[in-house]
Amino acid sequence: MADSEVLFTITKDNLETGLRGVPVGYCTTSNVDPLLGLFYSGYPIDKLAYNQPEEVIYLLFNGEMPNPEQLADFKKQLIAHSKLHPGVIANLKTLPKEGHPMKWFLHGLNLMGMYSGEDDYVKDGMNVVAQLPELVAAIYRIRSGWGDTIASNPELGYIENFVAMLNPPNATKDLLLLMKVFNVLHYDHSGGNLSTFVGKAVASGLEDMYGSLMGAMAALAGPLHGMANQECLRFLKTALETVNDPTNDDEVNKYIDDLFAQGKKLFGFGHAVLRVEDPRATVQYDLGEKIAPDNKIFRMAVAMRKLGTEFLKKQPKVSSPYPNVDAVSGSLLTSVGLTDENYYTVLFGMSRCVGIAAQIIYERRDARGGKGTPIIRPKYLYSGPKR
Ligand code: MLT
Repeated sequence: MADSEVLFTITKDNLETGLRGVPVGYCTTSNVDPLLGLFYSGYPIDKLAYNQPEEVIYLLFNGEMPNPEQLADFKKQLIAHSKLHPGVIANLKTLPKEGHPMKWFLHGLNLMGMYSGEDDYVKDGMNVVAQLPELVAAIYRIRSGWGDTIASNPELGYIENFVAMLNPPNATKDLLLLMKVFNVLHYDHSGGNLSTFVGKAVASGLEDMYGSLMGAMAALAGPLHGMANQECLRFLKTALETVNDPTNDDEVNKYIDDLFAQGKKLFGFGHAVLRVEDPRATVQYDLGEKIAPDNKIFRMAVAMRKLGTEFLKKQPKVSSPYPNVDAVSGSLLTSVGLTDENYYTVLFGMSRCVGIAAQIIYERRDARGGKGTPIIRPKYLYSGPKR
């Protein structure tokens, strides 16, 4: 492709559309094809979903799958960088429990930067990825009254250690498997999703990795982005207050019709880019049939997958009538014992910081022949009063 090739022509119709479809740069970690879904470094996500999390993190940071020696070495590095400063946990213990867990997560990232920031995107990126499991497990345990925090034992493995530090009271045997798959599925989603774009924009002003990830995670916390997983579980639970049997199509169809008659919407459908079912959702529906086949909330999610999609396909203005990643993730998390949906966006964030950190490192260290991308500064057309 010639550097001068026209990729997109901006007209006034493109203004105030959230930059939909407007190319702004390169993403070296992942891409989202409207019809094929998400790829990490050229591998389709459904082929990576059951790989070891450490392998996939390595892939996103290096662009290649590790060989066994590289993987062993990378695991050693993650262990070496995994010690969260004790001041972070001490400070978290003083926070108001009323605050949403995402506010705690933002605070935790800020504390990590204050105690341990090295002002080096690569070193800070490695530290933050290695220490996120301890941060998130601490947020869960301190807030939810499960008892004191549990010491980190990184030798167990990246997510094995996370699950051991979390140790929820009613966990099922499938918690570990689900956490691994959930973690891998949420690492990255190309360059233009809101949190990633915001993280890179903050870093373009040369704010450090921690501050940039805080900006990114504040963006993730909105219900139109990462907090959609929390809202989707609430939607399914609310549906079950009316629908007795989610395997009864007539009952579910009536619920959907009534919902629309009241001007309400289905949660977990549609995507800014995808025009097929999100393959991250497909992986989770398949996993749910193995680990939660009789869970009523999962059955409701499956009913919505079929009947919600059929309903939305009949609506003239809906361009993307298919379930996205959030449509089903909460039903699986709740089935393995993580029943409080307020934490779901933090789990998403713990994972997504991996891809964002990798993309920030590319933009700051590698882009434009090593010069890095310039500070983000798009143009706005003035439309206020003229005097
Ligand atoms: C994501 O994973 O970030 C969401 O699907 C949103 C997006 O890609 O815009």
